[in-house]
Formats: sequence, structure tokens, C-alpha cells
Amino acid sequence: MSYFRPNIDAMEGYQPGFQPKEPGYIKLNTNENPYPPSPRVIEVLRGASEQSLRKYPDPMAQKFRDAAAAVLGTAPERILCGNGSDDILNIAIRSFCGEGDTVAFPRPTYTLYETLAEIQGARPVALDFPEDYALPAGLATTGARLTLLCNPNAPSGTLIGPDDVERLAKSLDGVLLVDEAYVGFADANCLELVDRCENVVVARTLSKSYSLAGLRFGFAVAREPLIEGMVKVKDSYNVDALAIEAVTAAIADQDWLTRNVEKIKATRRRLADELERMGFRCWPSQANFILARVPEGRDAAEVFDRLFERKILVRYFDQPRLDDCLRITVGTDEETDALLAALNEILEQHH
Ligand SMILES: Cc1ncc(COP(=O)(O)O)c(C=O)c1O
Repeated sequence: MSYFRPNIDAMEGYQPGFQPKEPGYIKLNTNENPYPPSPRVIEVLRGASEQSLRKYPDPMAQKFRDAAAAVLGTAPERILCGNGSDDILNIAIRSFCGEGDTVAFPRPTYTLYETLAEIQGARPVALDFPEDYALPAGLATTGARLTLLCNPNAPSGTLIGPDDVERLAKSLDGVLLVDEAYVGFADANCLELVDRCENVVVARTLSKSYSLAGLRFGFAVAREPLIEGMVKVKDSYNVDALAIEAVTAAIADQDWLTRNVEKIKATRRRLADELERMGFRCWPSQANFILARVPEGRDAAEVFDRLFERKILVRYFDQPRLDDCLRITVGTDEETDALLAALNEILEQHH
């Protein structure tokens, strides 16, 4: 006998990437930003008042909604804040899907989608991406209450153009959530679809391009009726007072964001070129990581282990489609040099 609901007993639970306890690692495994957040964020946190800790925060984080709406060119009423975009994904599943309802998404993608569906007792339906990671045929006709599209996709880094996403949205009966966690590093985004489609939710995070993964803050942009419905589902105080202050400062500092993003894009180009030169095959990345297939005759798990011994962490997924690949976060230039030197050594030694 179990105390748990059968779906909880049956599921595995989400496996986060390895977070080392000791220092000294080059950490290219969980897509964090290697550069610090805007200095204005640290300033705001240093100046935090006694009041902001003693009292409950603003349930709607209006200050951030106003600042974000101005930066993004949307209305504050179209923004819902969350404790990371994971919170937004969680709110969306609980808002739109009941037990047995279909949640559809292409695969391979962010594995939390399946986990959240399992927790909810919803039915996850995964459609295989084609080799080039274009939209899978059939995604429009699953009958899902909620379709999740990670764009740019993790772990492939590939981007589906807004026109294709709009066509998908318009052919669905249910909601389309476009998870734009990595869109800060991309050349296009789907924010405008919110104006054109009543069923689109765009999810964003401050964790990646804004370098604030530890703070936990994300948000959704959608039409007012969708936002108002999701507000009923969220925890009443789902974002904390210090985070609201910090992210309001962060989103206002677009110059800082742009500088860091441009650095990462330049390093991404160099990393992809060097990997290709070594015989890896890289999918075209619009994110702050690259999915690279190891050279012919090499074992990705083995390369992962050899890097790990050198205290260089990348991500290896022991699953179909990905088990001959490594997903490598774009770090600083120094970190990238260390990675490339290690890979050179590893590939030479084991030939
Ligand atoms: C595709 C995708 N969506 C959402 C998230 C969650 O980000 P957050 O830190 O905002 O919860 C991640 C984090 O790795 C991600 O890869």
C-alpha cells in the first residue's frame, strides 16, 4: 500500500543537472550565464529594507509588470510573474489540464514538461522532432488542452520561426505555451503572437540572459483572460519581495543585458566552429548552449567522463536521439578555451 496517488508512485521525478558542492569546476552543464547580473541588482539587494522582509510581497509584482511591459511593448495586465519560469509552466498545466487531458510537446525537449504532466495526472503526448528539429507534423492535431513548445528548444538550441509557430497556434483548439527561456540569445521571438492569437502564452525567465538563475523569477505574457485565469491558480505570494525589486532593476538595464548576450553569441560562434573542426556535428544554436554530436566512432558518455575527470561539466543524456551527443553551455572565453583544449586532448588520446 502506498500513501501516494498512483501517478506519483509511477513517475520518476525530474532530474536536475549536477550542481557541484566544491569549487573548481568549469560548469557548462546547466545553461547558466557565465557573466554577473547587472550591478543595479546587487545594489538593490544591498539596500533591501527591513519592511520588505517583514511584510508580504505584492501578490502581482506590479512594479515588475509595469517595468517589463514598458521594455517589451506590451500591457502590464498581460504579464503574470512566477517563481522561475518553472512556476509558470506549473501554473499553466494546472490551469489548462485536468486528469487524463492531453499535454502535447515535441521530443526531445525540456524534460520537466513530461514530469509536470505526470504530476497532474494528465496524459503526456510526445511527438518526435525530425532530424532538423522543425515542427513535428501532427503537433497541430493531438487534441491537446495544452501544447508546449520550447523555442529555442532545449537541448537542441534550434529555433522555429514565429510564422510557423503562429500557424501552429491558429490550428490548435487548446493553448499553445511557447517556452522562451533561451530567447534572449535568439534572433527572433514569438511575443507578437500574443497580439494575434488569443490562445498563446509566452513564458520567459530572468535565469538565463539576465544571469539570475539563483533568484528564481520568470513570467508569462498572454491575453488578459488567460492571465486572469492563471492568477486564480498561482500561489498567492509566488514571488518574493527581494526578487521583485531585483528583477525590476535587471529588466531596466537593457544595456547590460545586450553586452553580455553579444559576448555569449560571439563565443557560441567560435565554440561551434572549433567543435565542427574537431569533427563534432553541431545543430545551429540560438541559445546559450550547443548540442554537438561526437565525432564518428566516439562514445559520448566516455567523452563526458573524461571531461568530468578534468572537472569540466557538460550534459550527457542517456536517451534515444541524444546518447551520441553532448550539450555544452557557452561559458566565458577562458572556460571555452579550457573545454576545447581538454576535448583536443581526449580525442587524441583515445584514437
Ligand atoms: C527550456 C527551459 N524552460 C524553463 C526553464 C526553467 O527556468 P527557470 O529558472 O526560470 O525556472 C529551463 C531551465 O533550465 C529551461 O531549460
